[in-house]
Amino acid sequence: MALSIKDKSVLVTGGCRGIGYSCVHQLLLKGAKIVAILDMDSVCGEKAIQKFNTEFGRNCTIFFSTNVSKAEEFESNFKKAVEKMGGLDILINNAGIANERNWDMMININIKALIQGTFMAIDVMGKHKGGKGGTIINMSSISAFGAYVKIPVYAATKHAVIGFTRAIALNYETTGVAIKAMCPGATDTSIISNTEYSNLVSQEEASSFAAKMPRQRTEVVGKETIRLIEEATNGAIWINTLETSTLSLNIPDYTTYGTPV
Ligand SMILES: NC(=O)c1ccc[n+]([C@@H]2O[C@H](COP(=O)([O-])OP(=O)(O)OC[C@H]3O[C@@H](n4cnc5c(N)ncnc54)[C@H](O)[C@@H]3O)[C@@H](O)[C@H]2O)c1
Repeated sequence: MALSIKDKSVLVTGGCRGIGYSCVHQLLLKGAKIVAILDMDSVCGEKAIQKFNTEFGRNCTIFFSTNVSKAEEFESNFKKAVEKMGGLDILINNAGIANERNWDMMININIKALIQGTFMAIDVMGKHKGGKGGTIINMSSISAFGAYVKIPVYAATKHAVIGFTRAIALNYETTGVAIKAMCPGATDTSIISNTEYSNLVSQEEASSFAAKMPRQRTEVVGKETIRLIEEATNGAIWINTLETSTLSLNIPDYTTYGTPV
């Protein structure tokens, strides 16, 4: 049975622009009760909630200026957001950057903070802790499934999101928390123009390749992410690209594709 977004309390990291913003918009269109945005850009965050609260009325969005890679700050604002919303039903771990020059910071944002967010949300929503269960969406990328020479560490973080999501989802019987991953292809957001490429490749070539890359609209990814929440089963991994539209991945056991040597 499809899960209804109506009257749900949702927390979205990195939700003031791009894919996260589109997820917030789609959640509100589907009747979410309240959405908390945690983003490190406070100007963009305040602007986003002003726009949403004007369009959808009431205080349907709240904002907490948060750098999710700062563990204590993330934990404190996560707790404040859940308290203000009166609970949590859905978490979208979306905040991410693409910066090969500052790869340790990227690892902290793209995977460490996503793991922290997942554990904090399981603590709040987990049935084993007295919660009602819920849903977590982890934002991965098409780069989790290929060899991307210009952005090797970014691709590694997105591979890690898939490995973590598939494994942690197996606790569903204990927690009642469904955990799924969305893997968008190139999407028209600022992450593409802001990408810092690997020092091992030509920056000019990489930037001009990225500038010409066909991109899908953020609305498409937002809509498909909400459909992932509503329709997919626990552990689902969805890919959404301009070329393929949306696919649900069945990742085969390695024994079926390895070659004996
Ligand atoms: N745009 C694409 O082509 C694409 C493709 C696949 C996956 N993704 C993933 O989608 C997610 C959203 O990216 P986007 O394309 O919308 O990029 P974006 O740059 O438009 O938005 C990212 C948001 O995350 C916020 N953010 C970054 N670091 C943060 C931190 N430390 N703490 C809190 N907030 C932080 C930014 O302020 C921004 O609002 C990322 O995880 C990205 O890796 C994007």
